[in-house]
Amino acid sequence: MADVALRDVVKRFDEVEAVRNISLNIPDSEFVVLVGPSGCGKSTTLRMIAGLEEVTEGEILIGGNVVNDVPPKDRDIAMVFQNYALYPHMTVFENMSFGLRLRRTPKAEIRARVEQAAKILDITELLDRRPKQLSGGQRQRVAMGRAIVRNPKVFLFDEPLSNLDAKLRVQMRTEIKRVHQKVKTTTVYVTHDQVEAMTLADRVVVMNGGRIEQIGRPHDLYHRPKTHFVAGFIGSPAMNFLPARLQPNGEALMLRLSPELAFPVPPAHAARYRPSVGKDLIFGLRPEHITEPRGEERDPRYEFSMTVDVIEPMGMETMVFFTVHGKEVCARVEPTAAKPPGQPIRLYANLNHMHLIDPATESVL
Ligand SMILES: Nc1ncnc2c1ncn2[C@@H]1O[C@H](COP(=O)(O)OP(=O)(O)O)[C@@H](O)[C@H]1O
Ligand SMILES: [Mg+2]
Repeated sequence: MADVALRDVVKRFDEVEAVRNISLNIPDSEFVVLVGPSGCGKSTTLRMIAGLEEVTEGEILIGGNVVNDVPPKDRDIAMVFQNYALYPHMTVFENMSFGLRLRRTPKAEIRARVEQAAKILDITELLDRRPKQLSGGQRQRVAMGRAIVRNPKVFLFDEPLSNLDAKLRVQMRTEIKRVHQKVKTTTVYVTHDQVEAMTLADRVVVMNGGRIEQIGRPHDLYHRPKTHFVAGFIGSPAMNFLPARLQPNGEALMLRLSPELAFPVPPAHAARYRPSVGKDLIFGLRPEHITEPRGEERDPRYEFSMTVDVIEPMGMETMVFFTVHGKEVCARVEPTAAKPPGQPIRLYANLNHMHLIDPATESVL
């Protein structure tokens, strides 16, 4: 077991700056997920931790030791990739024990470690099979088993579930979480899928353009995004964004979204937002905070009517799309409250959950 630290790490490939000065401390036994769009530098960061890619600037530490010059095989890490190649001519047992045999681990210990890993992964019955006799999910487990038997200080995963179908991906996600709860090995997991990141991570690192946008627990990223990018990236369907202005209204503040649509800013937010009166801003509100009017404590000043453009029934709830000043907005309503396209619908905006973004800095106010 070990902690992992990145200090001012930069990676350049000729003129491409893939990773632009990132620092990160991962305590022992934490499960950290690096998430961000394709090309943002996730794999490069992981490969530098693994030692598969040289660090251009900065330091990487594992267990408190700088490992910049330590070759991958001596870093005591195990990596699981998207394309985990199992040896087709070997049984599951032989695949899982291959690395240990190379290291001349005693036979009895190999057997004990493989059997224990197989038990954790629930693949004891499969140890004598060959890869072609396994389903995709079972093969993925064997690939994880191969990493577990090495009992490494750190697990590195690079999009390990991308090749699986949607249902299996969700199952394996739970599986990976269960395994981590048992073995508690420090884990760095890379994915472009924010749902995977949110469900797996102790802490999520949101990356964009080679930089870290925000580090936080899933709940914090969701409720307190610090940047426009994080606000839009975390959550599905994504947060709605609309151009907005704040107008003074006596002691209070009004949030104006269009000539027809304005809401009072909840008093709890007013002091923070007052310096931004009159500036061009971006208003952000998640679909789940725009619903049909419900409950007893509702305030008529936050109710409004819109014409439905499109509806998407999801079963538990229905997404209702409408436009404000030419911009599409998504609301999440009870299925029974949805109206067909072209019909008016009465909605309620819960501005206690509102965000305001300064477009000049891209920061959430
Ligand atoms: N070996 C390489 N040579 C040149 N550029 C690379 C190399 N590997 C990655 N890059 C570039 O670095 C950036 C980050 O890539 P990568 O870390 O693979 O992103 P991600 O895993 O987030 O999709 C991309 O612009 C990519 O094209
Ligand atoms: Mg990648």
